[in-house]
Amino acid sequence: MCYAIPAKVVEIKKNIAVLDYFGERRNVVLDLPDIHIDDYVFAQGGILVRKVDEKEALAVLDTWKDLFFELKEIDQQLAQSSHAEKLSGNALAVLQKINLKQTLTKEDLLILNALQNPQELSVLYDVANQVRQRVHGNASCVHGIIEFSNYCRGDCFYCGIRRERSIERYRMTEAEILATTKQAIDEYGFKAIVLQSGEDLYYDEDKLEHLVKALRQLGILIFLSIGVRPVATYKKLYAAGARAALMRFETSNPVIFNELRPNTTLDERLTLIRELKKIGYVLATGFLIGLPHEQPEDLVNNILLTQELAPEMYSFGPLIPTQDTPLVHAPTISVEQVLKTIAIARVASPDANILVTTALETLSLEAKRQALLAGANSMMINLTPRQYRPLYSIYDHRACNDQTVAANIQETIQLLRDLGRAPMDVGL
Ligand code: 5AD
Repeated sequence: MCYAIPAKVVEIKKNIAVLDYFGERRNVVLDLPDIHIDDYVFAQGGILVRKVDEKEALAVLDTWKDLFFELKEIDQQLAQSSHAEKLSGNALAVLQKINLKQTLTKEDLLILNALQNPQELSVLYDVANQVRQRVHGNASCVHGIIEFSNYCRGDCFYCGIRRERSIERYRMTEAEILATTKQAIDEYGFKAIVLQSGEDLYYDEDKLEHLVKALRQLGILIFLSIGVRPVATYKKLYAAGARAALMRFETSNPVIFNELRPNTTLDERLTLIRELKKIGYVLATGFLIGLPHEQPEDLVNNILLTQELAPEMYSFGPLIPTQDTPLVHAPTISVEQVLKTIAIARVASPDANILVTTALETLSLEAKRQALLAGANSMMINLTPRQYRPLYSIYDHRACNDQTVAANIQETIQLLRDLGRAPMDVGL
């Protein structure tokens, strides 16, 4: 977004470009023609998305040069404290493994998940924040999301836009999506856009291909979140210029999956997710936290399955029980359980980019800050036009429904500055 620093290309190794941000190096995929050493560029999600005019880049870099080092210092200070002495027994042993950079076992993750006492949890969050800092420095990424249709052929028990629920439906036209994206780029400086919708077959392969091609001209990372489609469609959309895809597996427990997603199986879903990765998409995947009948072991299995799928980005959030859905009476998940999941995912997978999801923000206003201090390093800002936003009601009381995009950006920038995070790309 506007909060993004241009980088200088310092090395090119086949399809990888090495970028420099004030002395910090990041590797990114080079899939643009005519990029040379010493060019200035923007990268998002580990992909080089646009060349920037040198004058423009130098002007932006000039405004960043002092702040960049100040932010780094703030981040380092915030990531320093951890009172390991507050842990005991098994948890202390796991902490020592984390410090020694050893691989954690399923039993280790279960031990961390069993922590309940606030003092112990705060040690876990601090340690996860340190791991994030050690691996990613203070890099943070912020993508914009446009929810372009709430029509859905699916009937998932947890979801507020399921077919069976009687709600007002909307679908943005291609022209509206393009206009919203252009505004996001020109007015707010976004460099990556997630296109999300229900499984709306009105947007068939041809329409999506046309849309992606048009968006591709704008020099951004195009991130698809459009649900189950044939592999051939995803291939076509990749060829048209889409480079990232978000698809959660929702739960690693096949029995729970079957109960909640009629006529679909976990196996099919996982096969598709693996195919997305094979096609070359930057992959975001994850699960819902707190589905009915889930046991602690399911949560740990969810983290391990995410790890196995090797996505570039982890996306998981709490189930928010929603009116007129079969799960309306499911128990609500605590913020602590979500923060704990973020922290465990971070220490289990130090390299991961972990997203703070809006569902977590919906649970508590403070949650975004807490999540960024418990191992998370990525965010999304909702760019859906305000007349449609309340209609994209995948769950009740969604955070940011009433906030303008400008206000949301302002708040996010302030938060990132308070926490010392810099908008350089997180790299590969
Ligand atoms: N609460 C939280 N997240 C939900 N999703 C769908 N319904 C809900 C809900 N009630 C999530 C699913 C889906 C993503 C787009 O939204 O995990 O993959």
